[in-house]
Amino acid sequence: MTAKPIILDVDTGVDDALAIAYAIRSPELDVLGLTTTFGNITVKEATRNSLIVLEKLGSDVPVASGAEQPLRRVKTDYPRHIHGEHGLGGAEWVEPKRKPLPTPAVDFIIEQVRAREGQVTLVFVGPLTNLALAVQKDPGIAGLVDQVVIMGGAVRRRGNVTPYAEANIYSDPEAADIVFRSGLPITLVGLDVTMRTLLPSSRVQVWRERSGELGRYFADMTDFYIDFYEKGYPGIGGCALHDPLAIGVVIDPSFVTLERMRIVVDTEGETLARTAEQPGGEPNVSVCVDVQEERFLEHFLSRVI
Ligand code: RIB
Ligand code: CA
Repeated sequence: MTAKPIILDVDTGVDDALAIAYAIRSPELDVLGLTTTFGNITVKEATRNSLIVLEKLGSDVPVASGAEQPLRRVKTDYPRHIHGEHGLGGAEWVEPKRKPLPTPAVDFIIEQVRAREGQVTLVFVGPLTNLALAVQKDPGIAGLVDQVVIMGGAVRRRGNVTPYAEANIYSDPEAADIVFRSGLPITLVGLDVTMRTLLPSSRVQVWRERSGELGRYFADMTDFYIDFYEKGYPGIGGCALHDPLAIGVVIDPSFVTLERMRIVVDTEGETLARTAEQPGGEPNVSVCVDVQEERFLEHFLSRVI
């Protein structure tokens, strides 16, 4: 089996950290690098958190720092009530030993895609700013990637920031609009499926009790995120594995059912950042419409800690 080369773009974030662990621990994937963006926290914090998580996992995968702000908006508030003050929930904070690459995220993406024509999978689990900037700088990469898997959007269910919008798309709707119009081969892993992938608190306690220091580290991180879900969605019984599902889809596409659709992004008005299906339009996205949540959860748990 040849491992699939991927670049994972993150706003690390608790579920981003779980996605990093899942990717690094999966032999089907060859993680060429992480690229970072603002989103759950500032890009500086996302870069630092990504380096910390990699260090905990014993990985020396490179990290390239990316966008500080959306393309045309100014972001000043971050959801620290969801991902914690530092972005890694209740996990102990440490200074990472490594530094990010000198290469900016956008250049790292372009260089890697051009060095491995037709082979690289790009996985985006934060706002799409780095990807929009990459296709603006080098539109030719749209035809040179293997696939682009995006955690974002809510096509047939309500959003999680507004009734219409999901957080990653809402953080930079203009970037999402550019990406969906770019011709990139996109698979969209939205709230339609990720809100069905719940990590129950009981499974996290198994990490705490049986998986040593690493298990306790990820349990401290994830318990904070589960508390947010319990407050926001009383009785939900766990936290959504948004970003890990995007990794799961790359490893094993049979976790989900896809439908080809024309997706457009609203960039103004009450429905700002809605990812709406345009019936009859030329399809531009493969949208995940169903998920085998139990099979995915067991696979995720078998790999992460
Ligand atoms: O809406 C869920 C997404 O928003 C996830 O990527 C999470 O990490 C946050 O960025
Ligand atoms: Ca994320």
